[in-house]
Amino acid sequence: KTRVEKIDKAQMNMDIIDAAGQILRQGGLVAFPTETVYGLGANALDEEAARKTYAAKGRPSDNPLIVHIADLKDLYPITKGVPEKAVALAEKFWPGPLTMIFEKSEIVPHGTTGGLDTVAVRMPDDTVTLALIKAAGGYVSGPSANTSGRPSPTTAQHVLDDLDGKINMILDGGPVHIGVESTIVDMTVEPPMILRPGAVTKEMLEETVGEVSVDHTILTADSKTPPKAPGMKYRHYAPRAEMTVVEGSLEKVVDKISELAAAREREGHRTGIIATRETMDRYTSRNVKCIGTREDESTVAANLYAILRDFDDDGTEFIYSEAFASDGIGSAVMNRLLKAAGHHVINV
Ligand code: TXA
Ligand code: MG
Repeated sequence: KTRVEKIDKAQMNMDIIDAAGQILRQGGLVAFPTETVYGLGANALDEEAARKTYAAKGRPSDNPLIVHIADLKDLYPITKGVPEKAVALAEKFWPGPLTMIFEKSEIVPHGTTGGLDTVAVRMPDDTVTLALIKAAGGYVSGPSANTSGRPSPTTAQHVLDDLDGKINMILDGGPVHIGVESTIVDMTVEPPMILRPGAVTKEMLEETVGEVSVDHTILTADSKTPPKAPGMKYRHYAPRAEMTVVEGSLEKVVDKISELAAAREREGHRTGIIATRETMDRYTSRNVKCIGTREDESTVAANLYAILRDFDDDGTEFIYSEAFASDGIGSAVMNRLLKAAGHHVINV
């Protein structure tokens, strides 16, 4: 049975944090809130705990975990040196939605890194989780706390829906703020390379360290080159429905989605539409969900995974979504949408 504990960030109950830390020290699993998505915590220096993590998620064990730390000085023991640019980025963006990849030191087991000699590290911006990491001894591995293949969890309820009975505890810190996973940057190459887009954008990184490159598989459906972050190759973030993203001028997008959805509905299929505040009332279809406003795409990021889960719960068979501009947080939104759609895009 999974124990669920509500935690008030303003008034943390340290007895609960200590109990959770104790579970992690003993090799157990505790899900925790972060500003991006909920994570599934385990002791990152314990090979057996990593094995349990993969089993609970049903995740292929060649897909490495991110190590979460609570103190910049804790970065040094788990890496073989920290490049100057990484120090600059850590000082600027930690705690926050940025994960950096380093050469790993001997103390990090290959179980945690999916067999790689590199390790991904992040300091999350959540007071509950920073306290948990300290209580656990400093190093907590944390993949997203979903069943492998399902959309990442943005509430404690999502975690419970996927992992009830499979993990020891869930710390419920309320809904997350950002809603898409952290930006991943490989610091072992020069210039540093973005492997997964997130709330820390290329422009923000470049302001601090100059040129940054981007793994080109992020927004294209190139199936010949494998993505450099092993996890990005799986069709994850995915709803059960077959999903199509429609891009082009907004007028035409609305028309096309209406037409496609109407055709599916006539065939008797459960059909859903992902619309925005700006377009919401122009659809006549039965199952239209508003994902946020185009005036602030961070609202779209915050609602994306919950909406995909809602469609799953409704038994939706076909989803049609509007596309978004791929700049700022929009590049993370489009990356996740395109993956959820298996790169099925219609341009009008
Ligand atoms: O926002 C986040 O990063 C969340 C929260 C919980 O912190 N965590 C998260 O973890 O998204 P996960 O396991 O769902 O995604 C980790 C990604 C995977 O795509 C994995 O392949 C990549 O990071 N990754 C981890 N270590 C890596 C490494 N050494 N080299 C390349 N990619 C790595
Ligand atoms: Mg994940």
